[in-house]
Amino acid sequence: MNQPEALVSTDISSCRDDFPALHQEVNGHPLAFLDSAASAQQPNTVIDAVARYQRHDHANVHRGVHTLSHRATELYEGARDKLCNFVNATSRAEMVLTSGTTEAINLVAQSFCRPTLKPGDQVLITWLEHHSNIVPWQLVCEQTGADLIVAPIDDNGDIVLSELLGLMTTRVKMLGIGHVSNALGTVNPLHEIIAAAKSIGIPVLVDGAQGVPHMQVDVQELGCDFYAFSGHKMFGPTGAGVLWGREALLESMPPYKGGGDMILEVSFENTVFNELPYKFEAGTPNISGIIGLGAAVDYLQSVGMQNIAEHEKNLHSYMVDKLKSVSGLRLIGTARKQASVQSFMLNDIHPHDLGTILDHQGVAVRTGHHCAMPVMQRFGLPGTARASLGLYNNTDDIDQLIDALEKARQVFA
Ligand code: ALA
Repeated sequence: MNQPEALVSTDISSCRDDFPALHQEVNGHPLAFLDSAASAQQPNTVIDAVARYQRHDHANVHRGVHTLSHRATELYEGARDKLCNFVNATSRAEMVLTSGTTEAINLVAQSFCRPTLKPGDQVLITWLEHHSNIVPWQLVCEQTGADLIVAPIDDNGDIVLSELLGLMTTRVKMLGIGHVSNALGTVNPLHEIIAAAKSIGIPVLVDGAQGVPHMQVDVQELGCDFYAFSGHKMFGPTGAGVLWGREALLESMPPYKGGGDMILEVSFENTVFNELPYKFEAGTPNISGIIGLGAAVDYLQSVGMQNIAEHEKNLHSYMVDKLKSVSGLRLIGTARKQASVQSFMLNDIHPHDLGTILDHQGVAVRTGHHCAMPVMQRFGLPGTARASLGLYNNTDDIDQLIDALEKARQVFA
């Protein structure tokens, strides 16, 4: 894959300077932003790309003959090319631009599964999934009479592989699986799982929302059929994301939504749909968001996904060691392989109370069920506190978290 010229220093510790939102005080303390799994901060290059487009180039895409419309279209389609390169898609036809992971998964459930699922068929997911990779399948199962079946996880937050493999039969018409658990950080052994599914002809959708910010993703090498992700988890704008799908499958699927841009010809008798990927892109898209997402791809590739993965691995292990030293702290999620996401409980302090005390000390973590209620049920918890790291975090952020936890422990002693 081509890598763009360096836009930032290759020294990852200086990346922090590229993110203006990180340089502020919150409640009288420097901000320690540890909530990138919910939504990551944006670098200047993304903010500037969006602002430049809004200031100089804004017009609708694919529709006008005038200069601004050409410029907008070039920028928008240029972002699609960057996204193809980012995940190693074989063609632009495979790269459907969406509002995010949620829309991408709903698209597959409704357009790929709904026309063919019937009573007795099964959709297979795991206990680790985010609600976005549960509810769309529940809806399509209700609509078609198919059954949703769920592979269990163990006490560490790993999928019980033997059980997952045991559930893979010819009745299963779709496997929906996360790349990385947003609640526990578990990195699933996708190669093994996808190979097993494919060996009996089960199509696989990967929810990659928490995968792409942390590691190099190559959809061809993974061997899945669909891969969904969101811009705002990978330092881009909100409301912009991707469904990558195999061209032959996308070709066979009816449109998900009807409207402008997804047609070649419309009459009251008949509509001829547009070619891929536009068949799935009805209506004026989030043009500035997608352009910003293209800039986020440039940024990530410029830093280097390998550098990011190494930095986060070291930082996660530093964080876990430090967390373990806090008396009364219990790690939730200790999977064999984890991304830089860590849930925890401190004594019996409710996670929301803990999150509030941490915020008073400038530390931003997410608290609650993390849109993964079944995971919380599995651990018998109402929710957890979760610290999630991005490429811009450093050991000072972790130290600030640990000091804040010690203070919280004293407050609730
Ligand atoms: N899915 C997002 C999270 O994990 C919102 O926080």
